[in-house]
Amino acid sequence: MSLLFQTPRALVRRAQRLVQPSTPSPLAGRTVLITGASSGIGEATAYAVARLGGRIILIARREDELARVAGAVASLGAEVATFAVDLTDGNAVDATLAEITAQHGTVDYLVNNAGRSIRRSLDLSYDRMHDFERTMAINYFGPVRLILGVLPGMRAQRFGHVVNVVTWGVQMKAPKFAAYIASKTALDTFSRIAGRETFGDNVTFTNLRLPLVRTGMITATEAYRNAPAMTVEAAAAKIVRALEDRPITSSVPVAVVGEIANFALPRLSDAVAWLGSSRVPDSRAARASAATEPASAR
Ligand SMILES: NC(=O)c1ccc[n+]([C@@H]2O[C@H](COP(=O)([O-])OP(=O)(O)OC[C@H]3O[C@@H](n4cnc5c(N)ncnc54)[C@H](OP(=O)(O)O)[C@@H]3O)[C@@H](O)[C@H]2O)c1
Repeated sequence: MSLLFQTPRALVRRAQRLVQPSTPSPLAGRTVLITGASSGIGEATAYAVARLGGRIILIARREDELARVAGAVASLGAEVATFAVDLTDGNAVDATLAEITAQHGTVDYLVNNAGRSIRRSLDLSYDRMHDFERTMAINYFGPVRLILGVLPGMRAQRFGHVVNVVTWGVQMKAPKFAAYIASKTALDTFSRIAGRETFGDNVTFTNLRLPLVRTGMITATEAYRNAPAMTVEAAAAKIVRALEDRPITSSVPVAVVGEIANFALPRLSDAVAWLGSSRVPDSRAARASAATEPASAR
């Protein structure tokens, strides 16, 4: 039942660490598995967790980039291991999880950060069912497979925490993001339910609903070039906070306002979203790949 007061207790411990900086983070000595660690938010999170004394396992597909990040993590004095795997390949993920358990034991913290975003209006998507399948594969089925893989160990040791890097779109429901936001919403909902089943085992989940973050992921959308966006370091700090404090959700205020508006004034919200979205057309990249991508690549 002490889990009921987890977040207030974590806030007290945070205050203690401020007064006494030598007090270790709850991440110290714990095994933290971070996916999508070869760039962007995942890379910054690896450095932030390394500074707090976590033992880090990094996953992504690009082996050379993983090696680069692992080198930088090791230079911060942290233990680090890398596994190059495509998280949409179920058999490869199962094999990797078996290897991780054999070499590193139970994963204490899992950060489901690897992901793919697609911003394309439905108008350009009528023959692009693969957009919806691809986003589900990496943003939903991949994380679910990892969660199912680490849960038995977490439940047996009666401790574990999962942070899902989702998006404020889960609350805002932004037009042109149907494929992306639906896949992140699926993970958000799965984890909310999983957390209810694992409550008695002290295994918890945070859905971290991030706003725009300045990474490679948003460069294809011209409209975002000058839009306000969080730095990767600020996003990583939010992930670390979610790992340490274990809240159920973490959101930014404007997304909470959007969520309330969607609930209280749904048609007005539709009108505002439609108007706003019609002023920001599909990116050149979204239009070009809709027009030219060969069927074999779909
Ligand atoms: N940037 C934003 O504005 C924003 C906002 C809200 C939420 N997010 C979320 O934040 C997370 C990180 O994104 P980012 O902005 O940091 O972009 P990023 O730099 O493109 O990072 C994406 C990461 O996911 C990995 N990845 C992609 N597909 C994979 C696959 N099939 N198997 C294994 N790894 C895969 C990539 O590594 P490899 O290519 O090496 O595999 C990369 O490390 C994503 O889940 C994204 O949806 C981003």
